[in-house]
Amino acid sequence: MQKPLSEYNSIVVLTGAGVSAESGLKTFRDNNGLWEGHDVSEVATPEAFEINPALVHSFYNARRNQLLEEAKPNLAHKSLSRFEAEFNGGFTLITQNVDNLHEQAGSQNVIHMHGELLQVRCINTGIVFQWTEDLTTQTHCPCCKIAGSLRPNIVWFGEIPMHMHEIEEALSHCDLFVSIGTSGNVYPAAGFVQLANAMGATTLELNLEPSLTQSAFAFAHYGPATEIVPSYFSI
Ligand code: APR
Repeated sequence: MQKPLSEYNSIVVLTGAGVSAESGLKTFRDNNGLWEGHDVSEVATPEAFEINPALVHSFYNARRNQLLEEAKPNLAHKSLSRFEAEFNGGFTLITQNVDNLHEQAGSQNVIHMHGELLQVRCINTGIVFQWTEDLTTQTHCPCCKIAGSLRPNIVWFGEIPMHMHEIEEALSHCDLFVSIGTSGNVYPAAGFVQLANAMGATTLELNLEPSLTQSAFAFAHYGPATEIVPSYFSI
C-alpha cells in the first residue's frame, strides 16, 4: 500500500513519449518500429547527420513545426505542473521528450536529458541557440557564420544524455520515483528505477501498458496518461 503523496519528501518524475501521445505527438516504438515513417537510424544518429544532413534537417523541421503549430499540453502535463506548484517537498521533472509541452503547461525546471527540439547547437563552438525556424544545410550559424554548422540540440542514438550529474543527484535523494509513458527501451533512463530502488525509494510506473522494466517497479497503474496521471498527482 502506498503512502499519500504529501508524505513524501522528494519526488523524481521521469516522462517519455507516452505523456505527449495524447497531444498528437507520435511515440517512437508504437508504429512498427518506424518514427513518423522513418527508421530512427536514418534520422536520429550522428552517422545519419553526416551522410544525409538534408534528410535529418527536414525530419526535425517537420517535428519542430508540428510542435509549434499543432501540439498543446494535455491533462497529464497540466497535472504535473499543478502538482509541482502545490507540493511542499522536493520535485524534479526529468523528461526524455524533446518537445516543450511540460514548459507550456507551466512546469518549472524541466530537465531535458535528450535535448530540445526548439534549440540548435553549433558543431564548431558548442553554443546553443533557441530556434523556431527551419534549419537547412545552407543556414548560417549566428556564432561562426559558417553555412551548415548548426544541428538540432538533440541527443541522438550513440550520444551521451545531458544533465546526468544533476539527474543522479536527484535520484539518489528521492523517496519516490515515478516513471510515466516510457517503454524502458533506452538507457540510461530505463535504469533509473534500479537506482531509485537501490536508494530505498518507492517506485511507480504509470503507462499505457507494462514497460520492459515493469518488474523493477514496486507499484504500477496502467491506462492513458491523461487519465492516470491527473488521478495520481492530485493532492
Ligand atoms: N498514455 C500513457 N502511455 C502511453 C500512451 C498514452 N496515451 N501512448 C503510448 N504510451 C506508452 C507506450 O505504451 C510506450 O510504453 O508510452 C511508451 C512510449 O515508448 P517509446 O515510444 O519507446 O518512447 P520513450 O520510452 O520515450 O523512448 C525513449 O528513445 O527514441 C529514443 O530518444 C528517444 O527519448 C526517446 C527514447
